Amino acid sequence: MRTFLSFLLAAPLFLCAAHAGAPSWDFDRSAGLPPVVQRAAELPVPAATTPDGAGDSVWISMARPDVAALDGALFKRAPAAQNDKVAIYEMKLSEVDQISEGMQRTFRRSPGFFAHDTLEAALQDLSEPPAAAAKAFTIDQGPVVKALLKLVKEEPVVAAISSLASFKNRYYRSATGIESSKWLAGHWKELAAGRPDMSVTTFKHAAFPQESVILTVRGTTEPDKVVVVGGHLDSTAGGSDSPAPGADDNASGIAVTEELIRVLAASGHKPAQTLKFIAFAAEEAGLRGSGEIAAAFKKDGVAVQGMLNLDMANYKGSPADIYFVSDNTSAEQNAFIGKLISTYTDYTWGTTKCGYGCSDHASWTRNGFAASLPFESTFADYNPAIHSANDTLAQTGGRAEHAVKFARLGVAYIVEMAK
Ligand code: BES
Ligand code: ZN
Repeated sequence: MRTFLSFLLAAPLFLCAAHAGAPSWDFDRSAGLPPVVQRAAELPVPAATTPDGAGDSVWISMARPDVAALDGALFKRAPAAQNDKVAIYEMKLSEVDQISEGMQRTFRRSPGFFAHDTLEAALQDLSEPPAAAAKAFTIDQGPVVKALLKLVKEEPVVAAISSLASFKNRYYRSATGIESSKWLAGHWKELAAGRPDMSVTTFKHAAFPQESVILTVRGTTEPDKVVVVGGHLDSTAGGSDSPAPGADDNASGIAVTEELIRVLAASGHKPAQTLKFIAFAAEEAGLRGSGEIAAAFKKDGVAVQGMLNLDMANYKGSPADIYFVSDNTSAEQNAFIGKLISTYTDYTWGTTKCGYGCSDHASWTRNGFAASLPFESTFADYNPAIHSANDTLAQTGGRAEHAVKFARLGVAYIVEMAK
């Protein structure tokens, strides 16, 4: 493994001074180097990780306008690196929770930030993400899609939301957060039983204890091509001790993912390409679970055909049924999914913007994969109960009518993508 020091020596960085409070930076554009700023001697050495993650440092990257809008003391320090768009800071985990709260107060949301285990990983956020490979999206599986659509039901979606929301919280470092991921892995194993082409593994993250859960359906004829569908399993209302049922954010997305698995198993349909259903850990902590997994897929050269992120599906806050988040996503794949909706359902759809990397799709986009987030409402009208003890199933009258629309969209997506 490359050491931190050898990275510093090898990295093609233009190193110069950064001063607390008034970060100045300089770089030689004629040399074509990334506009990174930091004096080598000032670069802190990453803290060693402990099993529970306590006391660890994390490297967060954040859009500079967001940094400027946060007037909190946390940013009265020199960034470890920055360019004209993005700044990177080293932080303790406890401070990440604090900035989340600060952003909630300022913007009615926690920050659009990516958290990384190492500075090396964070520095990649200073470059533009690679473009996703071009793909021909086609729609020609009518009979199979229609047969599977008939199997989609509301009741299992309600049951899945209810089970996940019954944990006190699914915070990425709490005991119940760890337990909820273990429970989900066991539950998905039950769904996969009887299908030898389905298997369940967990993805262990070095820096925090909550595991991501992966259910793989091995493709029959093109198993090396992979279609990813999933959402985040964690929830937050500020920390380990706060009740955070996260029924909408994001038990709903996991429940929709699970309904796709259930329908596939019940139908006996076998995809030609491999499907990976993933419940990501630690999204609320800065897209950490998906960030690590998408980077690992890229490093391993996994041929990801597309990624569908399901995050918040059960609150109808706006007139249309489904809104595609247009930033940090693939315009081509969004248009394709819009066509799927028009072909196979009578749902209405529109587009909206988060304005920042608001969920796990951004991790896939950042690693050069086509990703989409079909969302429950416009960004302006999103569920006001998220990130609080009030994000319960009772808020939607114990129903999952809205989430079922996303399950139908998901059925069309997996059949038409993994063919
Ligand atoms: N589900 C939200 C994302 C979201 C919220 C999208 C509202 C659209 C409208 C997600 O779990 C979340 O809370 N994301 C954080 C950012 C993340 C990088 C920590 C957020 O938006 O505050
Ligand atoms: Zn959230």
